[in-house]
Amino acid sequence: MKDVYPKHKLSKAGTLWYLLKGSVSVFIASIVASALVTVVSLLVPEIINVTVDSVLGKEPVSDSYVKIVSAIGGVEYLKQNLWVIALLLIACALLSALFTYLRSYLNNYANQIFMRRTRDKLFSHLQRLPLSWHIQHRTGDIIQRCTSDADTISNFVSGQLLSLFRIVLLIVFSLVFMFLKNVKLAAIASAFIPLILVYSFVFHTRVRKHFKKCDEEEGVLSTIAQENFTGVRVVRAFGRERYERDRFEKQNTYYTGLWTKTLRILATFWSTSDCVAAVQGLCIVVAGTVFCVNGSLTTGELIAFIFYNTMLIWPVRQLGRIISNMSKAGVSLGRIGEILNGVEEEYGEKEPLSGDIEFKDVSFEYEEGKPVLKDISFKIPEGSVVGILGGTGSGKSTLTYLLDGLYAPTNGEIYIGGKPISEISPATLRSNIGLMLQEGYIYSGTIRENISLAVDNASDEDIKNAAKEACVDENIEGFANGYDTVVGERGVTLSGGQKQRVGIARTLMRNTPYLIFDDSLSAVDSETDAAIRKNLNEKFKGATVIIISHRINTVMHADNIIVLDGGKIAESGNNFELLKKDGIYKKIYDLQFQLPEELKEGGAV
Ligand SMILES: Nc1ncnc2c1ncn2[C@@H]1O[C@H](COP(=O)(O)OP(=O)(O)O)[C@@H](O)[C@H]1O
Ligand SMILES: [Mg+2]
Repeated sequence: MKDVYPKHKLSKAGTLWYLLKGSVSVFIASIVASALVTVVSLLVPEIINVTVDSVLGKEPVSDSYVKIVSAIGGVEYLKQNLWVIALLLIACALLSALFTYLRSYLNNYANQIFMRRTRDKLFSHLQRLPLSWHIQHRTGDIIQRCTSDADTISNFVSGQLLSLFRIVLLIVFSLVFMFLKNVKLAAIASAFIPLILVYSFVFHTRVRKHFKKCDEEEGVLSTIAQENFTGVRVVRAFGRERYERDRFEKQNTYYTGLWTKTLRILATFWSTSDCVAAVQGLCIVVAGTVFCVNGSLTTGELIAFIFYNTMLIWPVRQLGRIISNMSKAGVSLGRIGEILNGVEEEYGEKEPLSGDIEFKDVSFEYEEGKPVLKDISFKIPEGSVVGILGGTGSGKSTLTYLLDGLYAPTNGEIYIGGKPISEISPATLRSNIGLMLQEGYIYSGTIRENISLAVDNASDEDIKNAAKEACVDENIEGFANGYDTVVGERGVTLSGGQKQRVGIARTLMRNTPYLIFDDSLSAVDSETDAAIRKNLNEKFKGATVIIISHRINTVMHADNIIVLDGGKIAESGNNFELLKKDGIYKKIYDLQFQLPEELKEGGAV
């Protein structure tokens, strides 16, 4: 059976079961070890009971233990050799230690398997969720689901769920033994159980809200610190150190106050519930002594009873907490289930692609009722260069996302080589289209790694050539470590233009028949822009190229230029045709060519 998340949506329990695959048997082994600890701990009071009553006292051995006692040598023998009993008790302690060790080892081991599986499954699923899913969810939220929600579930499974088994076993067995010893006394002991259970449940439910609040405020605190460190230049440049420090101190004080309050509530709970437990214990001692005096209970039985009672009270207090925490684990499971239940993109096989690109009556909206592209129709003959010109927000980038299959058009269809792209696998589309984005994302790692990202086993020569073609080789060689320079978080050591050019070099490493430059030269000066385009013309002679820009310079040499305005095609044609039309293009042309050089360089228009 292949181990993939089923296509249909799973319930919370289903999700949990799916994640538990591979660790269930180890968890069960740990439960067995845990049950053995319980059995051993139940033996101790029985040994003490028999010793006090029959070995030290004069009571006859109770029927259930006659055989065992005679097997060890009989009461008389034991009276002379008390060390045998001591040995038995030591053996119990050793066994209990051994099983406790096994329980804890197996439990942690199972938990690690569980966590690894959860992380793996979440990560690989997230890799395959469509872009539209990622856009709808904030990165911070996704990370939180993968870390703290996964932790909550793992704590629940390895801590609380297993404790639940142990606790239920302990409670049931302690109660059974207690009722066997003395029904009246057992009734008194268990009368307190509902009270302690309900109190503990109500309390833990309440205090959880406080813990949650503390968690949230801790998040705010670390966001303040993080923003401050990442934005350190702005902070320094604008002299905001004092403001930032005050902001941090204020939040820090608030956060500390919350914790103090929460800890006070916790202290109240533990002391009151200790008090209730003490009262319960006292009742048993008093009533038990009375029963002893009037002969319905032996001393040994009373001692054993008190042992059982201590075994009972602690789990009951825990039980309230566990039941209360179940809802928290349920919420986390739901949040992780939401990721795993998201429908993965069918990636498909990579195949070669060729032919004209055609948009037919394409409309698109990110949010219903807010069209971003309206009835777009145009054709890009194979091997030609098309320029798309338009202001910010006119829908240029969206056009490329549709072509790359990152989103599906709301209406209309896009064809490549006569085939609708809805029928072309994303793998084929993306391996044939080289998309260069305005904000080339730079990964932390070396420049070499960043350029060779999309190809396996790239040679140094290929990497250098790609960098040369993107006019960034000289800059890179200028760094002390050249191509091995490690780019810090978010590429702090590269300027905007350098980042763009590294992004271009990355795309040039793949020889794709279709190329899209989405404003990817915007932070590069006009001369370098022209040089890069010249290099590209030579390298990609037969390629179909889409150049998107707000700069006339960049698009004016294209075979065809499409002018986008408010999501519609305002006009199209080559440079001369468009100039003759005397429309938007002509206006932008005049504006950009009349401006002094410095303004054009800055991309002000
Ligand atoms: N993920 C999104 N969700 C909602 N609206 C979006 C999203 N991305 C872009 N838009 C909107 O779509 C319009 C076109 O955006 P875009 O294609 O990026 O324009 P351009 O690349 O021409 O600047 C803008 O109004 C923008 O606000
Ligand atoms: Mg854009």
